[in-house]
Amino acid sequence: MDYRFARRATLTQDSFITEIFKYLQDKEVISFSGGFPNPLTFPLTELQVSAQKVFLNEGSSVLQYATTNGDLDLRRFISERYHVRQSIEIPADQILITSGSQQALDYIGKVFLEPGDTILIEEPSYLGAIQTFTSYEVDIQTVKLEEDGIDLIDLEAKIIHHNPKLIYLIPSFQNPSGISYSQDKRKAVAKMLDKHNVILIEDDPYNELYYKGSVQQPISSYLKDKSLLLGSFSKTISPGMRVGWVCASIEVYKKLFTAKEASDLHSSSLDQRILVNYLIDNDYDEHLNALRTRYALQHQIMLDAIARYFPKEVKVYPSSGGMFVWLELPEGMSSVKLFYEAVKDKVVFVPGDPFYVNKKHANSLRLSFANETAERITEGIRRLGNLIQQSI
Ligand SMILES: Cc1ncc(COP(=O)(O)O)c(C=O)c1O
Repeated sequence: MDYRFARRATLTQDSFITEIFKYLQDKEVISFSGGFPNPLTFPLTELQVSAQKVFLNEGSSVLQYATTNGDLDLRRFISERYHVRQSIEIPADQILITSGSQQALDYIGKVFLEPGDTILIEEPSYLGAIQTFTSYEVDIQTVKLEEDGIDLIDLEAKIIHHNPKLIYLIPSFQNPSGISYSQDKRKAVAKMLDKHNVILIEDDPYNELYYKGSVQQPISSYLKDKSLLLGSFSKTISPGMRVGWVCASIEVYKKLFTAKEASDLHSSSLDQRILVNYLIDNDYDEHLNALRTRYALQHQIMLDAIARYFPKEVKVYPSSGGMFVWLELPEGMSSVKLFYEAVKDKVVFVPGDPFYVNKKHANSLRLSFANETAERITEGIRRLGNLIQQSI
């Protein structure tokens, strides 16, 4: 059938994640793939109590249509947390609740991007963002990442050469590389973007998942109106509730608000009420501490297994938070090829390709340690190590 699809619908393809899902039905498969939080970290009982309370006390009002901005108590909670934890003043009326931060990315595309515009992203970058920006028919240019954040020389060169409208960065425990920007680099990036008038989209869903130190200062805090800051409860409480947010200047907020209104009117108010009651009635920091302890341990188990079973030629990127280990196989090796070999050994991961713009058979891969037990992490890494050894 000749459906005459819009051009944008022909540009985006299913992500590799769809391919991986096929293998996840088999419970024997050890999965280092998707960025799924460990379900054992979901505060099931507390959310159940909170849901009962919401139905009991707020009855039918919570099942009614609500305002586009999102729940005011929830926006106040987020605003207060920025104030207390990072000394950033973001009023509740500059926070728009979205159905996950993924939706915020889409609205940003809708509001800012026209076909042919240039956007800068890190290389590698989050595949969901690449997918979204691609659908807006833009030119996506990449900037190299170093171990302490983006390469400033490459960044300035790309800004001067491409005159980008936006730059999309994930400065804390980046997906997929796990890299975090140093404080100096955060300030230097802010200074450079300010100088060249490039609007920053800062995607920050992993900031709370640090295993050492404490929460880091968003680059946006140095840029104010020239930035948009995205957050999410997906990695810390539950991705299924689909509660994320975007902080923006009043001018940008109005545009995002209208985009959301035109798209879905508002995100689920029931989910937001359950979530905010949970946050108010429980100790969120205690919950986060338990989460950090669990992930730090699983991360260490994976690193230990890699040190034991992987050949020395495999480069492991340093990270001290988040959910991922990013690796580079020796030059010339394809991680997609490794993926299909590993599937036969019942191990899956995400090969590097979808984290790049137009790169095929990259030698990098992303492993998530969040969702497996200590035994299965070690066993999965042993199997992968064998396969890599055989291919060298
Ligand atoms: C960097 C980044 N941004 C956004 C998202 C989307 O998260 P959400 O569930 O809040 O839509 C993810 C999810 O993996 C992510 O890693």
